[in-house]
Amino acid sequence: MTNHRALVALVTGASGGIGFELAKGLRARGYELLLVSSDGEKLAKASAALKAEPGAGSVHFAALDLAEPGAAQSVWAFTTGLGLEVDVLINNAGFGIYGEHAELDPERLVRMLQLNVTTLAELCLSYGKRMKERGQGRILNVASTAAYQPTPFFAAYGASKAFVLAFSEALAKEMEDYAVSVTCLSPGPTATAFFGDLERRGLSNVHFQPAVRDSAAAVAEVGLDALFSGSLSRIVGTKNYWRAWSARLAPRSVVASIAKSMMRASPSGAPAELGGQRG
Ligand SMILES: NC(=O)c1ccc[n+]([C@@H]2O[C@H](COP(=O)([O-])OP(=O)(O)OC[C@H]3O[C@@H](n4cnc5c(N)ncnc54)[C@H](OP(=O)(O)O)[C@@H]3O)[C@@H](O)[C@H]2O)c1
Repeated sequence: MTNHRALVALVTGASGGIGFELAKGLRARGYELLLVSSDGEKLAKASAALKAEPGAGSVHFAALDLAEPGAAQSVWAFTTGLGLEVDVLINNAGFGIYGEHAELDPERLVRMLQLNVTTLAELCLSYGKRMKERGQGRILNVASTAAYQPTPFFAAYGASKAFVLAFSEALAKEMEDYAVSVTCLSPGPTATAFFGDLERRGLSNVHFQPAVRDSAAAVAEVGLDALFSGSLSRIVGTKNYWRAWSARLAPRSVVASIAKSMMRASPSGAPAELGGQRG
């Protein structure tokens, strides 16, 4: 990319967790930041914290509910209103709903799918189109290791991330002809608010306990390395990598049964929605 203006990165879900760490890493690399998430107060605090980090670029933010239809157009209006071209788009905002699918709150289900799937695809369309016209740009979409196998009790969330994985890898092949890179990042369990009151609600087994969770900062570094090296797809961590790939080699029925036993709530807690306040 050869121009003299500051490069600009748009990060969704930047008010905390992995998104905040991605934004921090981009600021350290000299990027001007455009931050979006739904909670204006959290976002203002995140923006102030980022401004205090080393880096010279401006930090702008907009509180937008990306789980609402039409949200992608609002994001576009925000960035074009500032007169900024987006060089890096990071689709990170997302949440999961844990529990038996037939028992979920239908409204929250639709909001999760809108955020994790539809808004992400729409943002890839609008910003991808512009990047294609300019012949430059990079997109990072955050999926999950949940994308690599069916995830009983987390069925729609896992499927939404399977969409992100397949969609991103396909889009990458379309966009490579225009010098635009698309990268899919698949973190495993990560220590963020995503887990919410998970333990209290029952999913406190050995596979998800705090000791096995990566830090958001470590996940973000892997993501930025994948983004700037133009990788197609990156699973965070060696153990997660081998687990994901062994799931692709074993029969689907076996994988689904193993996943069921891993995802089941512990006897002391009933399956409930992950990140209780979300949605
Ligand atoms: N933590 C894990 O174990 C894990 C594992 C694999 C993949 N992931 C994925 O990583 C991504 C980041 O999650 P995280 O772990 O960093 O969780 P987090 O700490 O809960 O952060 C989620 C971010 O998304 C934003 N967000 C949620 N709903 C939104 C909405 N309706 N509109 C706009 N922004 C919204 C939140 O901001 P507001 O509260 O301000 O809206 C927050 O900034 C997600 O896509 C998640 O699925 C997480």
